[in-house]
Amino acid sequence: MLVDTHAHLFNEYYDDIQGILDKAKSKGIDKVIVAADNIKTCYEVIEHAKDYDNYYFCLGIHPENVDDSIDELKQIIEDNKDNPKFVGIGEIGLDYYWTKDNKEKQKELFEEQLKIAEQYNKPVVVHSREATKDTIDILDKYKLTVDIHCFSGSKETAEIYTKKGYYLGIGGVITFKNANLKDVIKDVPLENLLLETDSPFLTPEPYRGESNDSSHVYEVAKFLANLKGVSIEEVEQKTSQNATKIFSI
Ligand code: NI
Repeated sequence: MLVDTHAHLFNEYYDDIQGILDKAKSKGIDKVIVAADNIKTCYEVIEHAKDYDNYYFCLGIHPENVDDSIDELKQIIEDNKDNPKFVGIGEIGLDYYWTKDNKEKQKELFEEQLKIAEQYNKPVVVHSREATKDTIDILDKYKLTVDIHCFSGSKETAEIYTKKGYYLGIGGVITFKNANLKDVIKDVPLENLLLETDSPFLTPEPYRGESNDSSHVYEVAKFLANLKGVSIEEVEQKTSQNATKIFSI
């Protein structure tokens, strides 16, 4: 069994979500965790989870949507606190690549959501782009289970995160021909890794250029197995164990 721990299976990107889940299942991906990124997609994933088996969700506001209402998010989370498919707070974090004029506002939103995660005892799925230092400093203030989604940092950063017990989300980027990420992840134990796609973005080789979907977690698992010189079964077993534990799925 494989798990796609991070996908955006939204109506905006896919006409046939059941078809995507079936295709994933045919490649051995049994469970998909869909991360909302704003208030609108929070409502959407809650509805989808009623319709689809093996579809779990995280609720949160992505830093690019910093103007969405935190109060509304709090209400949505309170209303869904007992929903067994609600498994984490995400996608949340800091993004200084797209928007650096509102750093303070981003940090404030990030912290508000980390407090929610503490309150409801949920893991956090963190997006961090060109904001490593602030991400580390802010996360240090909280005692949380952390998934650094789409990790793409240096060896040093990987060490800092794994020493704290954080998990690194690995997706299609590792398969890209010029990716330094390969050298970094080669030395990170499987005990610290999660597999993801970030669908519909970041499609792995050899499908690069097409829209991504959760079935491609298989390509990431295969790539990691080759990179580390272990069997695909070992990658599958260890990363799925991590996902099952962290997200209680
Ligand atoms: Ni994402």
